[in-house]
Amino acid sequence: MLSAALLGVACAPKGPQAIPTDKAVEAKVEKVLKGMTLEEKAGQLVQLNISVLEDGTREAIDPAKLEKIIGQYKVGSILNVMHDAAHSREQTAAMVRQIQEKSMEAIGIPCIYGLDMIHGATYLTDGSFYPQEINLAATFNREYARMMGRAMAYETRAAQVPWVFSPVMDLGRDPRWPRLWESYGEDPYLQAEMAREETIAIQGEDPNHVDLEHCAVSLKHFIGYGVPVSGKDRTPAIIAQNDLREKFFAPFLECFRAGALTAMVNSASINGIPTHANAILLSGWVKEELGWDGMFVTDWADIDNLYVRDHVAATKKEAVAMGINAGIDMIMDPYDPECVTAIVECVKEGAISQSRLDDAVRRVLRLKVRLGLFDKPVWDYSYPEFGSEQFAKESYAAALESEVLLKNNGVLPLKEGARILVTGPNANTLRALNGGWSYTWQGNADAYVPQYKTIFQALFDRYPGKVAWVPGVVYDHNNWQKDFAINIQQAKDAARNMDVIVCCVGENSYCETPGNMDDLNLSANQKELVKALAATGKPIVLVLNEGRPRLIGDIEPLASAVVDVMLPSNFGGTALAALLSGDENFSGKLPFTYSKHINALHTYDYKVSEHRETMDGSYNYDAVMDVQWPFGFGLSYTSFEYKNLVVSADTFNAADVLRVSVDVTNTGARAGKEAVLLYSSDLVASLIPDVKRLRGFEKIDLEPGQTKTVTFEVPASALAFVGADGRWRLEKGDFRLSCGGLSALLTCTETKVWDTPNI
Ligand code: BGC
Repeated sequence: MLSAALLGVACAPKGPQAIPTDKAVEAKVEKVLKGMTLEEKAGQLVQLNISVLEDGTREAIDPAKLEKIIGQYKVGSILNVMHDAAHSREQTAAMVRQIQEKSMEAIGIPCIYGLDMIHGATYLTDGSFYPQEINLAATFNREYARMMGRAMAYETRAAQVPWVFSPVMDLGRDPRWPRLWESYGEDPYLQAEMAREETIAIQGEDPNHVDLEHCAVSLKHFIGYGVPVSGKDRTPAIIAQNDLREKFFAPFLECFRAGALTAMVNSASINGIPTHANAILLSGWVKEELGWDGMFVTDWADIDNLYVRDHVAATKKEAVAMGINAGIDMIMDPYDPECVTAIVECVKEGAISQSRLDDAVRRVLRLKVRLGLFDKPVWDYSYPEFGSEQFAKESYAAALESEVLLKNNGVLPLKEGARILVTGPNANTLRALNGGWSYTWQGNADAYVPQYKTIFQALFDRYPGKVAWVPGVVYDHNNWQKDFAINIQQAKDAARNMDVIVCCVGENSYCETPGNMDDLNLSANQKELVKALAATGKPIVLVLNEGRPRLIGDIEPLASAVVDVMLPSNFGGTALAALLSGDENFSGKLPFTYSKHINALHTYDYKVSEHRETMDGSYNYDAVMDVQWPFGFGLSYTSFEYKNLVVSADTFNAADVLRVSVDVTNTGARAGKEAVLLYSSDLVASLIPDVKRLRGFEKIDLEPGQTKTVTFEVPASALAFVGADGRWRLEKGDFRLSCGGLSALLTCTETKVWDTPNI
């Protein structure tokens, strides 16, 4: 049994209300609510998939279905794209306008349309795409989260859609999980910083009045979705309560405080409780503790999952009541308008109270008021920056800063005049460069934007007359996991006439459950290709284009250089050619640990007692952290020297702010950017301490010979951890701060313990 304090059951906000109350917004909500029937209220709590409105062509709305869904069932929200694929801004806008007109005529309440815009306006054929979140994390540059958020919101709103299902903030702490790349990586602080910037960029500065260039966010997926025990999507997680509070909650907390208007719930379960039925997390941690008046939407069919999958409810009605009573405000029940009837019956039978019903409806209405939908259910507004050159430039710059150089024995930059063989299944595909959520759910960029360059095309253009392409291995386009060795021998023969081989391996695009797999190792065919090429003796530049770190321990030694481009999107090929040629310099760093062994999948913040080098005088447990490349690792064509790590004081307590500065000098011959990462270590604590934790990062630009002083301001309370009783603890004793190989010791003079989440 968990203690009440650990469960975080609190009644009143313990700190400032997440989004300040706006009287005019509340008055409007109350006025609308007063005039509503039970059926209208139930309708507001249901979200359906656009397919329920499609006609036989799947490209237009069937008026009879519109009458049924909006006219009769009075459904309050629609999601997704027609025909399961992206449409142009104009097509999307026309569709949404039609739904809105019907909604205003039939109910007098605007419908809210939501789309999975994941790395830009990625469900618009003419939208701007940015690298996926995992790449933006590798830039360690908050600017790019802001840029992507702004462009995504602007272009989505231009298509008459006011709600995006972003940012994704599940911690990517298990490389087997197929959605790792949708997140900002494994670290809670990095995730929180980037997601907060994206949230503000999407919504604008005032969540009570979101203007016509911004959208509402949906933080996802609340909470603990990324670490299923099996590694498979949507399966149960076991998470220690203190980790849940300290690490998994951190990015959500940051974004709720930044005014996030909605959040989508984790499809799976934590410690045996399906998250959709977890009142402690939804109502306790968020609505009550934070005083959050926003709206929780379910994930896809997850109320049904409470009875069909998880067996915690016996019937649909029981599941509906269970979810709504736990704190769900809107049910994404993609195909079933009868969900409205189930809610009505639950209220009539007393399974859902009138006050919970009204609270949920208020939250939906409040969102619609805040988005200005009552005043302008549709809008005429010009969006001159839609699809602009500026957005394209930002996307290219983000790709450049996100591709990570992991090894270089001197083969890079590629020499002018070098003859280059480009090979591997990822060499000539935009689909793999983009990953999932790109024009279609599973990703299919080649079919939509042939104008962008693949890696092969970009190198071909950069080195005219010097580049040949032989795939060696190709993907089965109907099954992302399958690849075929088609002409490895031909690739090997071609390599003999070349100076260098750029071998592009990794994964084809996938998303969610279809991305599940049974072996994290890079595919056997791809490894065979690398081994065959290595036999030629020609230097290999191994390019990894993948959504998660596929294990390459046995082939890495065969490569002279390794670059992990992850999922850099439409400009990723062009960016790679600029980096490999040395026209640009690398500056990305890994936002996750690149594991080496299948039975040793670590994160960088492991416990000191997990690694024999971090425990003194111990038996030799053979406990070794042997990773391919650690979190935060990334090389450059220049070199940086760190000096003068200075901390403002040797002693501190919880109320202090630690000022930390360090001088960084570019000691090489080329200009470069450096992500400066600050870590802390708690040397003795009442729970086994993490070996280190990221507490600050800044990206700087340095000319050769130039020095810059980087300053961090770290609230001392940020060095606290959550104890076994669920309370934050900053304990007396020594801490180490480290940055770029330098470190400083300082002492906390007083133990302080406080309730989550506020000091
Ligand atoms: C995914 C969500 C997504 C939703 C709506 C679900 O399957 O888990 O991330 O927002 O579908 O498309």
